Amino acid sequence: MPQRALITGISGFIGGHLAEHLLASGDAVLGCTSRGAWRRDSPAAVAQRVELAAFDIARDDGLAADARRAIERFRPTCIYHLAALSVPQDCGEAEPSPAATAVNVDGTRRVLELAAGLPSRPRLLFVSSSHVYAPVLPAASRVAETAPLGPDRGYGRSKLAAENVVRRAGCDYGADAVIVRAFQNAGPRMDARLMLSQWSRQFLAGGSRPVEVYTRDAHIDLSDVRDVVRAYRLVAECGRAGEIYNVGSGTSRTSGAIFDLLRRLAGPGRAVVETRPGFKQGPIADISRLAARTGWAPAIPIEQTVADTWAWWQAQGLAAGD
Ligand SMILES: NC(=O)c1ccc[n+]([C@@H]2O[C@H](COP(=O)([O-])OP(=O)(O)OC[C@H]3O[C@@H](n4cnc5c(N)ncnc54)[C@H](OP(=O)(O)O)[C@@H]3O)[C@@H](O)[C@H]2O)c1
Repeated sequence: MPQRALITGISGFIGGHLAEHLLASGDAVLGCTSRGAWRRDSPAAVAQRVELAAFDIARDDGLAADARRAIERFRPTCIYHLAALSVPQDCGEAEPSPAATAVNVDGTRRVLELAAGLPSRPRLLFVSSSHVYAPVLPAASRVAETAPLGPDRGYGRSKLAAENVVRRAGCDYGADAVIVRAFQNAGPRMDARLMLSQWSRQFLAGGSRPVEVYTRDAHIDLSDVRDVVRAYRLVAECGRAGEIYNVGSGTSRTSGAIFDLLRRLAGPGRAVVETRPGFKQGPIADISRLAARTGWAPAIPIEQTVADTWAWWQAQGLAAGD
């Protein structure tokens, strides 16, 4: 059934892909960003078709009356709450920084309050993260939604606190909310500081310096963002209220294997150096709950994700030294 979707964080990496997917599915879309403005790399086709409302979720007075009226007039049936400080380095080391608390935790509460006050009573889909899980051991790296929680850094702690805000709203006043725990995403327009982007930029900068990778032996779950947003729409449509769904590839890959896919395309002759060598085990998603509820399965091969991300960085025309 077509949705009327409000997307917070629409100007971000995942927000742009989600908007593209929803529009292609025949949904109506309204977007929110902190200042009601697109970013330079937001997809033009989305920016042309989608209106924006300014909503700074970090502030109590962040939603002006005219923006609230625009949202009320739009009558959303679903709010995809993506807006966040999304890069762990920005969120504080052991504890969430004040900014991470303001955006990720208090901001989530403000979005829930908005939802509760709208006559259309939209469902809320909150995008959390695999960073809420406790560190895993190699033998127990596959995590279901019931796995022990125990984030050890500010970002994961802020996401877990936000999950608790969502859960409480469900208990206190019956908010219709579902939570997705996303594992790492990759694809065109991803943040310049994340792994595949970092490597692509080093290849593009050229020269004879070796490409630096932290370690080739990190075991991670990496999904194509276009698969991920497809899962979000399905969860919004048929996820059970109050339930949590892992969204990941369900496949463990090493950073070295992913790097080799990129190197084949970008510079087979280029030397590599590991700056933080050694084994590292990340959580790998058990996606059986999501698959059982929605029928979703990842469809885009990792080779395609790497190729499309590389092509996107190439198209940015990075100058040497950037
Ligand atoms: N990328 C991943 O691999 C990944 C994995 C797991 C979970 N997630 C989660 O998925 C969501 C989207 O991630 P992303 O990679 O698309 O993030 P992103 O590219 O950093 O985009 C963040 C979005 O949040 C908005 N935002 C930030 N501060 C705001 C504020 N004070 N008020 C209103 N909007 C604000 C930004 O809008 P402005 O243009 O106004 O700044 C932007 O649209 C996040 O919740 C993230 O934690 C991401």
